[in-house]
Amino acid sequence: MENLKVAIGSDHGGFNYKEQIIEYLKARNIEYIDVGTYTRESCDYPIIAKHVAEKILSGEANRGILVCGTGIGMSIAANKVRGIRAALCGDTYSARVSRAHNNANVLCLGERVIGEHLALDIVDVWLKSSFEAGRHKRRVDMIE
Ligand code: RB5
Repeated sequence: MENLKVAIGSDHGGFNYKEQIIEYLKARNIEYIDVGTYTRESCDYPIIAKHVAEKILSGEANRGILVCGTGIGMSIAANKVRGIRAALCGDTYSARVSRAHNNANVLCLGERVIGEHLALDIVDVWLKSSFEAGRHKRRVDMIE
């Protein structure tokens, strides 16, 4: 695995999975920054998405993970930030290919959509997968 520094955030709808993913990261000694939310009280996902995006753009983190109820709001918000390539994944194949082909630097998950074991498998695959570059780099450059 590359030297990972993960910025992680959720709204109230993704809070439980955020905490579980943090346990996963701790158990593997993967560095992380928890940008919140820190309670189950209702909050606004675009603010959290922006915090994670900023950590990546500043270089404090090289990957981001965002969890909300569906993962959709987080992915829409994160993808508004230039330089962020957020992939909403509900399966491990998409997680791997979002790294290999799209060089996704943010993974989005929906706590109300997928089970917790699948969510952790997706995180595992996504963190271990690398960008293949080559022809895919040309396409990612077009987006940028
Ligand atoms: C919060 O109720 C919910 O709208 C949010 O977590 C997310 O699913 C938005 O896309």
